[in-house]
Amino acid sequence: MDCRNEIAVVHNGIIENYDYLKLKLEKDGHVFKSETDTEVLAHLIEKYFHGNLESAVMEALKVVEGTYGIAVISSRDPQKIVAARRGSPLILGIGNQEYFITSDVSASLAHTRDVVYLDDNEVAILTKNGYETKTVQNVSTYKKVEEVLWNIDMIEKGGYAHFMLKEIHEQPQALRNAMRGRIDFTDGTITLGGLISREKELLETKRIVVVACGTSWHAGIVTEYMMEELLRIPVEVEYASEFRYRNPVIESNTLVIAISQSGETADTLAAMREAKHKGAKVLSICNVVGSTIAREADCGIYLHIGPEIGVASTKAFTAQITVLYLFAMHLMRLRNILTQSLPDMAQHIKSIPEKIQSILQREGEIVEIARRYKDTEHALYLGRGYNYPVALEGALKLKEISYIHAEGYPAAEMKHGPIALITKDMPVIFIATQDSVYAKVLSNIEEVKSRSGKVIAIATEGDGHIAGKVDHVFYIPKTSDVLTPLLSVIPLQLLAYHMAVMRGCNVDKPRNLAKSVTVE
Ligand code: F6R
Repeated sequence: MDCRNEIAVVHNGIIENYDYLKLKLEKDGHVFKSETDTEVLAHLIEKYFHGNLESAVMEALKVVEGTYGIAVISSRDPQKIVAARRGSPLILGIGNQEYFITSDVSASLAHTRDVVYLDDNEVAILTKNGYETKTVQNVSTYKKVEEVLWNIDMIEKGGYAHFMLKEIHEQPQALRNAMRGRIDFTDGTITLGGLISREKELLETKRIVVVACGTSWHAGIVTEYMMEELLRIPVEVEYASEFRYRNPVIESNTLVIAISQSGETADTLAAMREAKHKGAKVLSICNVVGSTIAREADCGIYLHIGPEIGVASTKAFTAQITVLYLFAMHLMRLRNILTQSLPDMAQHIKSIPEKIQSILQREGEIVEIARRYKDTEHALYLGRGYNYPVALEGALKLKEISYIHAEGYPAAEMKHGPIALITKDMPVIFIATQDSVYAKVLSNIEEVKSRSGKVIAIATEGDGHIAGKVDHVFYIPKTSDVLTPLLSVIPLQLLAYHMAVMRGCNVDKPRNLAKSVTVE
């Protein structure tokens, strides 16, 4: 047969059996112009086309393995767009006599706030007379039109040079929004709408497993330390990509917490499905309302911090920790565990936004440090206890936006290998706040200094001791140990940002990265 160039496809996802399909299509006479898996879809739809585009798309999708969010047009069935999804997000924006097919609600926000979330194996057929939705098996479905609560101001830079900088500076307000209406600051009572009528399951929980990726995984480690300290429940944190393929042991009294800003990360979604399949209850911690993870979880807590657009996650990290702290307080009351006073805990979290604000006001000090080290090719981040995940997060921020090689380690692990990297030029960033492991961290600093390393310390205000031991200090206000990451991560976000900008990097869109990773 002749390929007639009459089908055009936009595709987000990965067609896993594309090799096999391509071979078969080539045998049938189809001629390929590219190496992409997407082109297979166009030829496949062409193969099944007999005058009606949606029928061809449905037939084609039956033999496709993998993930896709697609939009298809054909000059032989014009005036029609057919969209479909499996495993990749797909949203239909409903405008005024116009429609938008997107993979993220913020993409159509400038035109409409009314959206329809397509489910897996669903197809939408759009014509000038309206739209209809069906399953790939051609059974009609009914979809509710939902209103997105974000507005257009939230997806603009508001005078900042980059979204990342705007989002770093938004954190005080973002955390207030994440707490709004959820906490009684006098007695520490927590109200989380998404958990109403879940008391029985929460009381029966014997073990918590957190699944997440990247920055959300770092928030998961903070959660592990926090939940084990406050609730005395065993917690494990798993990379979602590992968890999903290793046949994990899950019992019915395991609560799985899936943390995902976008709510669309393919590995986290698959890990969550695997856990549900094995009988666990799943709690989602998402920012994007209506996202797949949020919809498929048994219950959830939204961050309510507005869209995060910069590819490097900042405000989502601090908001994830904030809502998980509220969740821990909720469980403490429910299970009558009084490891700490709930009113005191409430007062500590109440003061966090103001303390972040005071750090942001001293951004100039970080700019100076960034200027001093912007040309380094390597950096090491070290912390212990609650600041260990912050060290990982600081290193991730730096490497992903500035392309400087950076590693994060628990400070005491340094002597088991990374200490060999210490030179007089490489900056070693210690998070050395005055918490329960402060003295230990100080001795780790001495180990670096005695090898002529350059040390930048993030320390607690009022620490009169540390300045004499390190090359640079940035002070942060005192808070409770569990909440320290909410403060100690802020200078590290700023440091990464300014070093990247000074190196001429595109911080909002770093190379090779996407905001939501919808492929595995
Ligand atoms: C790093 C970053 C990524 C994401 C990861 C998970 O700055 O943004 O590491 O944290 O891709 O994304 P979500 O939270 O959307 O599941």
